[in-house]
Amino acid sequence: MKKLGLIHEGKSMKVYATDDPERVVVEYKDDLTDSTGWRIGKVAGKGALNNRITNHLMQVLERNGIATQYIEELTDRETLVRSSEMIPIEIIVRNVAAGRLAQRFEIAPGTPLRNTILEYTYKNDELGDPDVNDAHIIAMGWTDRDTLKTIEKTALRINDILRRYMRMADIELVDIKMEFGHDAKGRLILSDEISPDTCRFWDMRNHEILDKYRMEDTSMHDLPAIYERIAERVLQMDIG
Ligand code: C5P
Repeated sequence: MKKLGLIHEGKSMKVYATDDPERVVVEYKDDLTDSTGWRIGKVAGKGALNNRITNHLMQVLERNGIATQYIEELTDRETLVRSSEMIPIEIIVRNVAAGRLAQRFEIAPGTPLRNTILEYTYKNDELGDPDVNDAHIIAMGWTDRDTLKTIEKTALRINDILRRYMRMADIELVDIKMEFGHDAKGRLILSDEISPDTCRFWDMRNHEILDKYRMEDTSMHDLPAIYERIAERVLQMDIG
């Protein structure tokens, strides 16, 4: 496999072509953005840790029958993945109230929910990733009804697998954001990353926040240590 030119640069990663059109290389960056996509700064070592956390969790999912983009970790920051045509929606699954849900209904972060909540946003930085529902998604042609049904079922199953897995490390998966795409063979696969940038992880032992939102009650300077700690807790567990 030969790494070729840059084909896309996102907020947290760069994507490179390879000599195989069905495979690309993703390279994780240290840049951190807030929930509106505003670039806040660099967190030293974050890219490498998110690369390893994502790959570990994607392998856990693969073992549990979920198709993902993961193929092979190449270096500390680079991974070979299946190229996919992305569906421009973000799927958020919430187990506990936090973030925008807590704000919207003025409830305390940490309030338990009687059932998991699945939400969609349209992936579009200029519009600030607006909230959308199934009708919007079908009406705009971002995907079809059957695929959306499969996405919903798969997202809930992924949440279930990862919530149980993280609990073995005494970490609560408060919420998680997912993105899906179709690979060259037309299979629906989990894409993007699963990391402390895209999930809320709370320590069940002492209620500490172990994700990027930690910066809200401490500072950016504490984040490298927080990413180290969550990585250590995740990576020490068996893939299964
Ligand atoms: O901000 P909000 O409460 O909607 O975030 C829910 C979850 O989705 C959080 O884990 C957050 O990190 C993730 N998220 C994301 N990318 C976005 C918006 C939210 O990874 N653009």
